[in-house]
Amino acid sequence: MCIFEKILIFWVFPHKTPPTRLLNTHVIVRMRTAAACRRHELRVAVWRRRISNTTTACVLAEHPGVTSRLSSARHFKTIQIELPSLEDGQIELETLHLSVDPYMRCRFDPGHPQLGEYLTPFELNRPPTGGGIGRVVVSRHPDWSVDDVACLPFSDYPWQKRVRMSGTAKTTDPSLSQLRKLRYDDRSVDDLSLALGALGMPGLTSYFGVLAAADPEPGETLVISGAAGACGTIAGQIAKQRGARVVGIAGTAEKCAYLTSRLGFDRAVDYKDPNFEEALTLACPNGVDCYFDNVGGSVSDAVLALVNRGARVPVCGQIARYHDDVPYEDLTSDASLEPSIRALLRERDVRRFRYLVLDHAQEFEAALVDLEAWIRDGSIEATETITRGFYPADALVDMLSGGNIGKAVVKIQQA
Ligand SMILES: NC(=O)c1ccc[n+]([C@@H]2O[C@H](COP(=O)([O-])OP(=O)(O)OC[C@H]3O[C@@H](n4cnc5c(N)ncnc54)[C@H](OP(=O)(O)O)[C@@H]3O)[C@@H](O)[C@H]2O)c1
Repeated sequence: MCIFEKILIFWVFPHKTPPTRLLNTHVIVRMRTAAACRRHELRVAVWRRRISNTTTACVLAEHPGVTSRLSSARHFKTIQIELPSLEDGQIELETLHLSVDPYMRCRFDPGHPQLGEYLTPFELNRPPTGGGIGRVVVSRHPDWSVDDVACLPFSDYPWQKRVRMSGTAKTTDPSLSQLRKLRYDDRSVDDLSLALGALGMPGLTSYFGVLAAADPEPGETLVISGAAGACGTIAGQIAKQRGARVVGIAGTAEKCAYLTSRLGFDRAVDYKDPNFEEALTLACPNGVDCYFDNVGGSVSDAVLALVNRGARVPVCGQIARYHDDVPYEDLTSDASLEPSIRALLRERDVRRFRYLVLDHAQEFEAALVDLEAWIRDGSIEATETITRGFYPADALVDMLSGGNIGKAVVKIQQA
């Protein structure tokens, strides 16, 4: 870094207070992009001062193809876009955090068979949208003041550094699909990103997936695949609270160690280990009573071979199959299973069913109160992997290939 860059960086980031988090969280910052991010932020900060009606956006440059594993960010590009004029009733937000989530994968191709009835494909040369949080910088809406923090927890927040949108907030919207105001008088600003993770859609998915769908009895064995991710880390800790014996499945030895030593899982097994099936059998000496399935494929086949009579198998996601040209309904139906596993599930009276968090929308508010209380009192820990800088596509690609522990979040470093 040359001396001019140093001086300019000091000018743009004159003083940085260390992040203070009040809630029980563990943050893993992805350092890989830090230097590049600073240079990029610097350029954009200078741009922004010059042209206030444009902003930086990451757009879908090409459809990756249904069977692409989306292993690089080359399908996206970062461009400057024109902001629409700010109308009465609207607010302008400076983006603080963006969420990257597995379900977004199927939205990159118009013909993706897993779009289902409630997801639409993203358009070319437009920013993809997802969960996001922004700080109000201009308000033409009576309910919003400058510095309020607005969140779209599930969808519709575009991959842009500044956004203009309607300020109509529905804080009582049961589906959490509308703009909400986040209070941070009793939270640190650095905890706000939890509204995209443990205190947002993944946290709720874990809550209802364990307590309503899997419903483990104390002492029963509950296995979770994708255990080191956003849903898995929270689901495992909730199941432990319930008194279940929890076995996690994840893709590296480091993730497995994190689950057992930090989050209190009883056992964790690496599905990439050549002895995976043997290790899983050893980790479940009394068989499997509940299986919280996040991934599908061969990992799930190995778990299903161990089910006990009356086991419950909520199918939360099938991330191992999101690049398969197969409708999601087919993946979740028993017809997709090997005949021998199908027969075993029938014989042991196992209930395997598709689970969708949105089916519990009316109970979200009460669940969020519980989740926040548990994070505050330290009975569960919220882990995040944060990508700093405006790199949503890189963060998404990284998450899909297993780069995250806990919730993958992009933290935009605004100047
Ligand atoms: N039903 C619902 O309402 C609902 C709501 C939210 C999420 N979901 C689903 O829940 C699942 C987890 O979502 P999340 O947000 O918590 O994501 P996440 O677990 O934080 O991130 C995805 C993880 O999946 C694992 N993975 C990727 N490819 C895999 C493969 N081929 N086989 C096994 N594991 C693989 C990776 O970890 P490893 O290193 O372990 O491979 C990666 O870290 C997804 O399937 C998602 O679609 C469902």
